[in-house]
Amino acid sequence: MWKQLVDQWALVTGASSGIGAEFARQLAGRGMHLVLVARRKDLLDELAAELHAKHATRCEVIACDLSNQDGPQQVVLEIARRGITVELLVNNAGFGVVGEVEDAQVERLQELIRLNINAAVTLTYAFLPGMLERHHGAIINLSSLSAFQPVAYMSVYASSKAFLLHFSEALAVEVKDRGVAILAVCPGVTQTQFFDIAGAAGWLQKHASHSPERVVRSALDALGRRQVVVIGWKNYLLTLLVRIASRARVVKESMRFFRPRRKIEPKSSKLK
Ligand SMILES: NC(=O)c1ccc[n+]([C@@H]2O[C@H](COP(=O)([O-])OP(=O)(O)OC[C@H]3O[C@@H](n4cnc5c(N)ncnc54)[C@H](OP(=O)(O)O)[C@@H]3O)[C@@H](O)[C@H]2O)c1
Repeated sequence: MWKQLVDQWALVTGASSGIGAEFARQLAGRGMHLVLVARRKDLLDELAAELHAKHATRCEVIACDLSNQDGPQQVVLEIARRGITVELLVNNAGFGVVGEVEDAQVERLQELIRLNINAAVTLTYAFLPGMLERHHGAIINLSSLSAFQPVAYMSVYASSKAFLLHFSEALAVEVKDRGVAILAVCPGVTQTQFFDIAGAAGWLQKHASHSPERVVRSALDALGRRQVVVIGWKNYLLTLLVRIASRARVVKESMRFFRPRRKIEPKSSKLK
């Protein structure tokens, strides 16, 4: 798989921070060129300069809000205009919302659905047909440990990740014998800005977590070999446990873990 991807282009969404920036770094280390997408152009430009200096990586930066209705399509058109063929798509951009029903802002939840689900589906259906035609390519979708069960106080986020898990697994078997690999990556708590943006600051300190470096290394090792990778053996055991326990019990348990410690602050997800 990796021999075929050297000197080819990878598109990474949400590349300005966290897991997405780490995907860009490790893919550059493996010899791929990169299209970096997120809203914070200054961070993408910095990363592009870093990767060019370190690995002579060719980087194209596209600043775009993928939660806008036409955002993903604009990225597709811009990539075509720049004459780039995407051989690896990493649908990583995403955010979560933790909170009680009374504190929810429905516009923010709709933004979450457009980013976590719509953008990934639009980009997949834009690039997958070309990969199938060339009999060559791969897609990585960032799902989550929360995809394996309903999660109280994170219901919309966890459902969006369950969507991505099912979407990936179903497509993966459809295209399995046609030269294209599809992988769903399911990290547990990971050391990024995610929980600050989700309105659950402090969560990261309270729970065992993995580094983005570990998440991405495991994902890239699994690509082409598996259809789903859960990061960390303890997290993997949890996915087995929720299959054995009753659904009612599992969702009730999630309340204990995810009950908000403070109210959601209604603000943009952009963090500096
Ligand atoms: N951290 C965890 O514990 C954890 C666990 C399981 C799964 N995940 C998943 O991992 C993925 C990456 O999250 P992370 O932990 O690395 O968090 P992060 O550091 O907050 O990164 C999120 C990325 O998404 C981008 N993004 C957010 N809204 C966007 C929009 N409207 N348009 C375009 N890009 C947007 C952000 O860039 P801009 O702000 O510059 O746009 C940023 O680059 C997400 O899909 C998340 O659900 C995370």
